[in-house]
Amino acid sequence: MAALINVVWALGLALWSYAIWRIAPALYALLKPSPLRYIPGAPAPSWLFGNLKQLSSVEEPIIQEGWVEKYGKTIKFKGWFSRDTLFTMDTKAINYILTHSSDYPKPEASRFNLSQFLGNGVLVVEGEQHRKQRRIINPAFGPAQIRELTGIFVDKSLQLRDVWKNEVLAHGDSARIDVVKGLSKMTLDVIGLAGFNYSFDALNVHGKPNELNEVFRTIFGTAGKRGSVFGMLKFIFPPLRLIPTERSKRVTKAQRDMRRIGMQLIAEKKADVMRASAQKKKIDNGLDGLQNRDLLTLLIKANMATDLPEDHRLSDEDVLAQVPTFLVAGHETTSTATTWCLYALSHALEVQQKLREELLDIPTDHPTMDELQELPYLDAVIRETMRVYPPVPTAARIAGIDDVIPLNEPYTDIRGAVHDGIRVEKGTAIDVPLLALHRSKELWGEDALEFRPERWESIPDTVHSVPGVWSHLMTFLGGPRACIGYRFSIVEMKALVFTLVRAFEFELAVSPQNIEKQGVVIRRPFVKSEKHKGSQLPVHVKLYKRE
Ligand code: HEM
Ligand SMILES: *[C@@H]1O[C@H](CO)[C@@H](O)[C@H](O)[C@H]1NC(C)=O
Ligand SMILES: *[C@@H]1O[C@H](CO)[C@@H](O)[C@H](O)[C@H]1NC(C)=O
Repeated sequence: MAALINVVWALGLALWSYAIWRIAPALYALLKPSPLRYIPGAPAPSWLFGNLKQLSSVEEPIIQEGWVEKYGKTIKFKGWFSRDTLFTMDTKAINYILTHSSDYPKPEASRFNLSQFLGNGVLVVEGEQHRKQRRIINPAFGPAQIRELTGIFVDKSLQLRDVWKNEVLAHGDSARIDVVKGLSKMTLDVIGLAGFNYSFDALNVHGKPNELNEVFRTIFGTAGKRGSVFGMLKFIFPPLRLIPTERSKRVTKAQRDMRRIGMQLIAEKKADVMRASAQKKKIDNGLDGLQNRDLLTLLIKANMATDLPEDHRLSDEDVLAQVPTFLVAGHETTSTATTWCLYALSHALEVQQKLREELLDIPTDHPTMDELQELPYLDAVIRETMRVYPPVPTAARIAGIDDVIPLNEPYTDIRGAVHDGIRVEKGTAIDVPLLALHRSKELWGEDALEFRPERWESIPDTVHSVPGVWSHLMTFLGGPRACIGYRFSIVEMKALVFTLVRAFEFELAVSPQNIEKQGVVIRRPFVKSEKHKGSQLPVHVKLYKRE
């Protein structure tokens, strides 16, 4: 008995010391003067939540925009426990933060959340490890590789078209369809086939439940839930992660299954690369001989190249971590972007018709990547969608070092002093605006808030300062941590919009005022009166008949 009490005591003490060890630096960070203390910003309504509740009470970043109008481009707001967070619309500062990605990593909390499910994939790791992974993975996402995958994008678009067509025909002339469901299945099927040559077959209504699909649902069906207190505690006290809960047991099993399936895929791809190289005698001599054209095969081939320095090679663990990473990064982002495109088209009916006329000029249902890329109005519609409805609205970063961030436009602090740089300290939180930059009238002109694809015929010079990797937009971020899959998703979206707008006429089934944009990580549409149903977009879909 006494021994037991001693053990309990010792355990308690250990946990307590650990808590102090963990919390002390955080407490110190909260109590010491913030390097942002003289940067202007609005007062926080709550100590605990800072400005966070206020900021998430509206759909668009209009509160930040109001502050920027009042105080200037460089401001701060308060996060959890009223911690100062830097917010700047200065494109030079943003460019600096994004290009110095090793000095401005992701905050530990968001990395922890991601790494729970993604392992140490390229979305999660930092520094040298990230550079190493990116070097091996980059070539798989090049234009020539995406060209090879376009057939998958088009085939799956046609399959979705047929699913919706059958639904419409079952109702006569037109049906009310939640487009989120179909688009989400379609993009899952695509990332399965294009990413790993794995068939989820999510669009197949008669198909059997698929193993990886179930695993994926288990992991992300529960991960999507709003943060619980226990979840938060587990972040602060890693030992608590060992305590099994109903959910954690299911997730652990799913992770085990994911691992097994991933390892099996890797073994298959390796065998393919070995076989092809035995045939060709030389492994790094083009794709010829490979049966698989998927991203994972290309990655493994690059990783097995004989001329690769040994310390550049990824371990099996690292390769494995890319499987859930591609699934997560490539699936709902692309389906959400396409959903917003249908949303925009289904209340800008003249844009929809003008686009349809361009698309119907192409005499085939099976366009190549080049044919898709050469359609100017389709291109403008996709760019405008990505500008007005970027699926990821902001990116969180912290300063990894004490630094001064350079500015285009000096800011005046609350004491009246003018600064041409922002002083930050290791640990300073930064909120990088994506959506807010796309809404800037200074950059895009007075009609910045309108959906108007025609603007892409001649965009203002001011937008050249936006440090995005694609199209002067922040949608895919910029710098060394920009989205690796942007070409992939643009061509996939074009294949979808090409196929669907040729086949159907779309009209919103609820008033636009009844659609709400929600989500911190990915902004999705919800029907206000049916929030409990999750993200959805009901649209009247009608077969298009050519006159
Ligand atoms: C419309 C679709 C997409 C959007 C809006 C999007 C957006 C983004 C953004 C904003 C980031 C940066 C996140 C951050 O660092 O905070 C990112 C990173 C990433 N994306 Fe995408 N993405 C899309 C599609 C895809 C696809 C199709 C794939 C893969 C097949 C993909 C793979 C990745 C990966 C691996 C990263 C991490 C890159 C790194 O940290 O080096 N994404 N994406
Ligand atoms: C991470 O997950 C926890 C618990 O699930 C949640 O409270 C927190 O908001 C999440 N943080 C981020 C940055 O997503
Ligand atoms: C998938 O595998 C099959 C059979 O090995 C092969 O014929 C096909 O070309 C592969 N597809 C891709 C995209 O790798």
